[in-house]
This record gives sequence, structure tokens and C-alpha cells, in this order.
Amino acid sequence: MTDVTMRVWRGDGDGGQFAEYVMPQVEGEVVLDVIHRIQAGPAPDLACRWNCKAGKCGSCSAEINGLPKLMCMTRMDALPEGEPVVVAPMRTFPIVRDLVTDVSFNYTMARQVPPLKPREPEPDGTYRMMQIDIERGQEFRKCIECFMCQDVCHVIRDHEDNKASYAGPRMFIRAMELESHPLDTDDRRELLRQRMGLGMCNITKCCTEVCPEHIKITDNAIIPLKERVVDASYDPVAWLGRKILRRTKRSALEAALEAPGQAAPTRQERSVPATPGTGTS
Ligand code: SF4
Ligand code: SF4
Ligand code: FES
Repeated sequence: MTDVTMRVWRGDGDGGQFAEYVMPQVEGEVVLDVIHRIQAGPAPDLACRWNCKAGKCGSCSAEINGLPKLMCMTRMDALPEGEPVVVAPMRTFPIVRDLVTDVSFNYTMARQVPPLKPREPEPDGTYRMMQIDIERGQEFRKCIECFMCQDVCHVIRDHEDNKASYAGPRMFIRAMELESHPLDTDDRRELLRQRMGLGMCNITKCCTEVCPEHIKITDNAIIPLKERVVDASYDPVAWLGRKILRRTKRSALEAALEAPGQAAPTRQERSVPATPGTGTS
């Protein structure tokens, strides 16, 4: 039986280094299997996060040979034979211990996205929606919150300071999921532009490349959101409307800033027409 060398990062927030474990190679294993065998053998104190072992919980994200991947979905026989397998924690987030990172940044950002604000039902108490409008958001609901798109996004990966004002691709698809919901009446465009840093994304598509659910993050979420924000900010008719409205109404951002935790005013409250794709039949 041949061996495989696993080079696993060990340490905590104060620092650490790679440790090597030479393990027997077992046919059909994924990286997480080998990590579990290391825990059961030479390093019982090795910390890693996992749950489903089926690519659905998003817990076991790590950087394998320098690329963000799910450990439970990365087959050992798909990695270069005869070379060490390097397993490191996601670089964008603070390290708790070994392969476990503190991803609470993502939850903080998620709380900034105002939830669904459905319109009033029909007089008979029901909602009517076109099937095509319902299907538009399904792609975004496949997200398993592995945060590998966040990990690979250079805006925060290389610039810690940007985290204060940049929500990242996972949050952009959440915003798009809501913005394209046929019942939604909220308007998140000012928040996206001013507080969530949508403009800092330069559409490199790295996030789309690492998404294990194959969500077209840039093409189907970020670019349409950018178009909506640009329409709202630079369309002369919309600009004139905002100038008039500003005399009597606060913007969504102002409202959110003044009342943290409160949802921003709806389009109806602001008398702004719904954006294309959010209307219903
Ligand atoms: S496309 Fe935008 S969000 Fe995605 S990785 Fe590049 S800069 Fe980040
Ligand atoms: S969008 Fe894809 S890469 Fe990003 S958190 Fe969701 S599943 Fe993971
Ligand atoms: S353990 Fe759930 S996605 Fe890997």
C-alpha cells in the first residue's frame, strides 16, 4: 500500500505552521476522510469543521493545494499523485484553530440585507405569481453558505480594511434573490451601493469559479444588481424623482442608518416604481 503525505496547517490566531502526516492511501477516500484518520491517529487534537460529508452543509471549506474546496467533496485520487496534499484554513477569515476559521463576518453582513417585504395579497387572500418569476430566484437558494466565494474574493482577501464596507458575493446573491422575488416590495439598491460596497467588485468571476453549487454569481446576481444600482443612481428620470422625493422622504439608507435593524422603506412608501423583474403579472 502506498502512502500519502498530508501537509496540514496547525495553529491559532497567534500563528502556526504546517505539520506533515504520512498516512496510508485508501482507495475511494476524500480529503475529509484522511483528515478524520489523522484525528483518529497521530493528531487527535486537530480541529476541523464538518457536518454532512455530502457537500450540503458548507462546513468543511478549506484551501486544498491553494484552492478553496469542500474537503468532503475533494477526492484524493483527483489530486496530483505522489505530491503532498496541502490543507490550509480559509485565508480571508480569522483563524480559530487549525482548519477552523471564524466566519462570523458573513453573518454580520447578512444581517444588513433587509428581509423579504411582501406586497399585500389579492382581495381573496392569495398571491398570484408567474412561474418564470418564481424560478428566477431558485438558483440563489442553492447556496450552502460554504463562504468559499467570500474567501476567494480579492476585495476582502487581500484588504482586511475593506471588510467594514464590503459585503461580498454571498451577500450579493442573497440581495439578488430578494430583489428578484415576485412578491418583494423593498428597495436595497442604496444599501448595496453605499454600505455593501457593490461598486468595489470588478467582476473577476473568481467567486463563480469556486462555487460548489455552480451558482453564476457574477452573471446572474452581481451584474444585474450593478445595472439596477446604476439605473437608480444615474438615470436622469430616476434622479429627478429622487430630488423631489428627498424633500419629503428619507432614503432607504438614511432610514436604515437612523434605525438599525429596521427594514428600509418600501418602493411603494417611496413611490418608486418596481424595477424590471420584480413585478408580477
Ligand atoms: S467577481 Fe466580484 S465578488 Fe466575485 S470574486 Fe471578483 S471581485 Fe469578488
Ligand atoms: S454562493 Fe456558492 S461559493 Fe458562495 S457561499 Fe454560496 S455555495 Fe458557497
Ligand atoms: S461536511 Fe458538509 S459540505 Fe462538507
